[in-house]
Amino acid sequence: MISIKSDSEIELMKIAGKIVGDCHKYLIPYIKEGITTEELDDLAEKYIISRGATASCKGYEGYPKAICISVNEEVVHGIPGKRKLKNGDIVTLDICACYKGYHGDSAWTYKVGKVSPEKEYLMEHTEKALFVGLSQVKAGNRIGDIGAAIYEYATKHRLGVVRELTGHGIGSELHEDPDVPNYGKKGTGPLLKEGMVIAVEPMLTAGSRQIYILDDDWTIVTGDDKPSAHFEHTVLVTKDGYTILTER
Ligand code: MF3
Ligand code: CO
Repeated sequence: MISIKSDSEIELMKIAGKIVGDCHKYLIPYIKEGITTEELDDLAEKYIISRGATASCKGYEGYPKAICISVNEEVVHGIPGKRKLKNGDIVTLDICACYKGYHGDSAWTYKVGKVSPEKEYLMEHTEKALFVGLSQVKAGNRIGDIGAAIYEYATKHRLGVVRELTGHGIGSELHEDPDVPNYGKKGTGPLLKEGMVIAVEPMLTAGSRQIYILDDDWTIVTGDDKPSAHFEHTVLVTKDGYTILTER
């Protein structure tokens, strides 16, 4: 069942989304060579709590940390730890916050120092793929329109499209119906209606789309060790388009 949010729910989701967007902005100056992913996680959790919210990922299906931090070939769900960021890394911070029972979710990939042209290209076109997907979000369109647009854009730029993980509805649960895949067929899938809230999140790779999960049972990495990027916004579906709730 896809929920339509009431005005008061939307107000809370705007606050949750703003906390997530502001948390990204807060962390940017810390994304530097030498910092450990655990230090970034700690800063994120303290920031989210200082805003009267909680980190939605912590304890979600047993997830041990406040946010997900995925470096280079890690696609999603990297667990923060002792790893130090190095010049030339790309790092995705996937931040979810819960405010008065409602969630916001946004992932963004950042450069550490100077990165290779391959990584620059991957990041540029994954971010663009997010906005190409979002351009299909409006009441009356279908979920398949979003995925078809992202897939077409990504493949035109010779990037791999991860299929096993998708965007999702979001609200009082972090993951709600519908799934929002990064592939699909125009004009198919659930109908978008005013008041739905979805997270659109292309996860693209510089090589093959094959992925596997590490022994920690969380971290998902590319099969060919090529880098991966991930850009995600939580958006409210409106009559003529969408409103980004996780603006940064
Ligand atoms: N933004 C992540 C997702 O949509 C949230 C993961 S929370 C975790 O998959 F606990 F599963 F890591
Ligand atoms: Co998400």
